[in-house]
Amino acid sequence: MQINTDFSKRVVIDSNQSPWTPSPMIGVERCMLDRAAAESGRATSLVRYSPGTSFPIHGHPRGEEILVLSGVFSDAGGDYPTGSYLRNPPGSQHAPFSTLGCLLFVKLDQFSLLDGEEVRLNTRQSEWMPGMVPGLLVMPLHDFEGEHTALVRWAPGTCFNRHRHWGGEEILVLEGVFQDEYGTYPAGTWLRSPHLSEHKPFSTEGCLIYVKTGHLA
Ligand SMILES: [Fe+2]
Ligand SMILES: [Fe+2]
Repeated sequence: MQINTDFSKRVVIDSNQSPWTPSPMIGVERCMLDRAAAESGRATSLVRYSPGTSFPIHGHPRGEEILVLSGVFSDAGGDYPTGSYLRNPPGSQHAPFSTLGCLLFVKLDQFSLLDGEEVRLNTRQSEWMPGMVPGLLVMPLHDFEGEHTALVRWAPGTCFNRHRHWGGEEILVLEGVFQDEYGTYPAGTWLRSPHLSEHKPFSTEGCLIYVKTGHLA
């Protein structure tokens, strides 16, 4: 099963309007965003753990990136509340669980094999920096080679410059409504724009987005 594996195509998925399917683990369902194979290899998903779910120990041959969108996610390393940003490097393994339930954004098996940094960041307690235009705040999450990942907060009425995506751009809208000349994207929407695509984004009501660039060349 392959889903959205052609990185030259623009993709927009509103997870509020899309199918959620059970995973092989009882209590875990997911909304698949991109996927190279059925149950292995590169995949980007929203994953919901119902309360009391535990997952068997598993490895991440090419790393695992997680943003906790709600609830509390846990493994032997600790409890990760809403807003936690985790990077489990290539070769790591764990047996995660969630006592209270949680909703996660997960990018599996997409790291450079040279990117060995483990990250445990609580974005609710991290510092914002001024962005490139008034009304934007940026929180860098991780940079490696040409790939940059950040949270960006848009004050209501913020307009950004027209720009081109070198290496593509992936966005998950976390709060509010993100917009550009092609559409309006409420919280829960995932957008993937190809290498060298362009747009002029703005946000009338304000929003919080996760952004990754430079990984889709
Ligand atoms: Fe994992
Ligand atoms: Fe962009």
